[in-house]
Amino acid sequence: MDEERLISPELEDIQEERIENTLRPKTLEEYIGQDKVKENMKIYIEAAKKRGEPLDHVLLYGPPGLGKTTLANIISNEMNSNIKITSGPAIEKPGDLAALLTNLSEFDVLFIDEIHRLNKSVEEILYPALEDYTLDIMIGKGPSARSIRLDLPKFTLIGATTRAGALATPLRDRFGIVHHLELYQTKDLTTIVKRSAKILEVEIDDESAAEIARRSRGTPRIANRLLKRVRDYAAVLGDGNITLKIAKTALNRLEIDEMGLDDIDRKILETMIIKYNGRPISIETVATTIGEDSETVEDMYEPYLIQIGFLARTARGRIAMPAAYSHIGVTYEG
Ligand code: ADE
Repeated sequence: MDEERLISPELEDIQEERIENTLRPKTLEEYIGQDKVKENMKIYIEAAKKRGEPLDHVLLYGPPGLGKTTLANIISNEMNSNIKITSGPAIEKPGDLAALLTNLSEFDVLFIDEIHRLNKSVEEILYPALEDYTLDIMIGKGPSARSIRLDLPKFTLIGATTRAGALATPLRDRFGIVHHLELYQTKDLTTIVKRSAKILEVEIDDESAAEIARRSRGTPRIANRLLKRVRDYAAVLGDGNITLKIAKTALNRLEIDEMGLDDIDRKILETMIIKYNGRPISIETVATTIGEDSETVEDMYEPYLIQIGFLARTARGRIAMPAAYSHIGVTYEG
């Protein structure tokens, strides 16, 4: 599989990213969790291969860190095709997209991360490309300007977004395959932590793997990050092997609590429960009060707080649930 990265990561992220890449599963067989998505994709891939056709366009949505890029790489790998990776904000002009599309080969995968951030003018030339593999481009300016139609290779677009609702309906409708990735269960995250530990060549017992998994807010990217930090503590405070005692010490020092909540989660709950006295408030108010932007709160923090029953969305706004009160040590008075 040939992977070409069209977005350049920040320098300091390169090392993290290299490790993340070594931990990424390469086949559906190796991919843990998201069983429904996996089973369905297996069928669609096999059927497309049998027919000798490209895979239909795929939209993956769900909170960050759940493996949308990983899945895109796996899909292209399973289709024995090449993948080109880019993101919505990186494609600034229709010409940028035209250059990408005309450089694809038959059956290639084009992966567009954060596809909800595509420019309107770019989105419009994407429609005919998705629908009948053609590209209409304008040549020249003024009265002599004319449009020419180019045939494109039959390709597969994989779009990823944290929010399917933010996609324009005509764009959403052009994906034949739409999958929602869900936060992972602790059992699957435990398996992921054990698999990653093996790749990183660090010993870990089941209990410690489960402890890291429980505190990873349903997210493999967080589980792998915590594993690497716990591995550092094990190397310095112990003999290199991860034990439950070391895992707990490390996680406590990282200020990740028993429920996997970090400093920002706790600030969100305290804002709702203490500052606003449990009244329903908007996501913007929560975000402004803690100094984060509302998209970050909505995409990265809220899904997990909802999943564990600490927060609810109501017609009047967000409210903290009784379990959140006892977690931060405040009595719930209804
Ligand atoms: N590493 C990160 N996500 C993974 C997954 N879903 N399966 C296996 N390893 C992973």
